[in-house]
Amino acid sequence: MHENYSFAVLTMSDKGARGEREDTSGPYLQKRLAEEGYILQSYRVIPDNKQVIIDSLIELVDDQKISLIVTTGGTGVSPSDITPEAMVSVIEREIPGMAEAMRSASLLKTSRAMLSRGKVGIRKESLIINLPGSLKAVKENLEVVLPVIPHALEKIGGGESDCGVV
Ligand code: MTE
Repeated sequence: MHENYSFAVLTMSDKGARGEREDTSGPYLQKRLAEEGYILQSYRVIPDNKQVIIDSLIELVDDQKISLIVTTGGTGVSPSDITPEAMVSVIEREIPGMAEAMRSASLLKTSRAMLSRGKVGIRKESLIINLPGSLKAVKENLEVVLPVIPHALEKIGGGESDCGVV
């Protein structure tokens, strides 16, 4: 259990933000991460707008100091998918291996996994993880990174525990 770490869920969806589509991925993430012991601090549905995404992520990190921010949606290749471009303006250090691990595991489920351009990165002491939008994709991708998140957060926060375990 990871009681010390706060988390936020940010759903990127034009239709969701207009109230035209029910968000199922965001509520799933809230439930699944709470089961793991993380403490929910914020949940928002925002449009696929680069500046809105940038402002939201910066506020969650710089003002609210939330440890773990998980986003869903906007990672694909349609004209409105802008989450990765917003991430470039927000993160200070990228963790390509986490995004690559999600894509490789997902390729065993669907070849469309290669269409996700989601990133994982660090801003200050926060870890930001982009997941695709569909509930199925969220479930499959989250399970890939869940086991490594506590160690990542500890290290991002300056923890000096031994890495050579497991
Ligand atoms: N990854 C997994 N594990 N399972 C999926 O069903 N869907 C893919 C991909 N990644 C999928 C997945 C599809 S169809 C797309 S278009 C991309 O994620 C991007 O999704 P997004 O635009 O909703 O972010």
